[in-house]
Amino acid sequence: DTIFVLNGPNLNLLGTREPEIYGHDTLDDIAGMLEDRARELDLTVDVRQSNHEGHLVDWLHEAQAIGAKAVLLNAGAFTHTSVAVHDAIKGIRTPVIEVHLSNPHTRETFRHHSYVGMAAKGTIAGFGAYSYMLALEAAARF
Ligand code: DQA
Repeated sequence: DTIFVLNGPNLNLLGTREPEIYGHDTLDDIAGMLEDRARELDLTVDVRQSNHEGHLVDWLHEAQAIGAKAVLLNAGAFTHTSVAVHDAIKGIRTPVIEVHLSNPHTRETFRHHSYVGMAAKGTIAGFGAYSYMLALEAAARF
């Protein structure tokens, strides 16, 4: 089974981007950790990143089209703005887990509302890179 791990804007900068908030792991580091654990779980992870909203929409559709088991989605700032991503999650039957490195609820008020969380099966936030690992553990049990 395949699990899509979709990452939105600015997550390509992980490792150097506000490390006091997001940690020192790069997205490649996180992908490596996910791949190792996925192998143990007899799963495949497909890790992608884009700064463009429509790519996230297309990839959510693709997840359903290829029969992915689940999607782990860190939509970055689109979390708080994108009705299109919200609708894409609603439009597919593939379960989506919202993931964040930081805990948006402890941050600026503009991060308190999540269009992704409203449509997702569940949310894991605040554990840094480990948020992705926890989400993978949850998805493996779907
Ligand atoms: C983030 C939280 C968002 O508010 C922010 O815009 C990001 C990263 C996180 O993983 O903590 O880009 O999704």
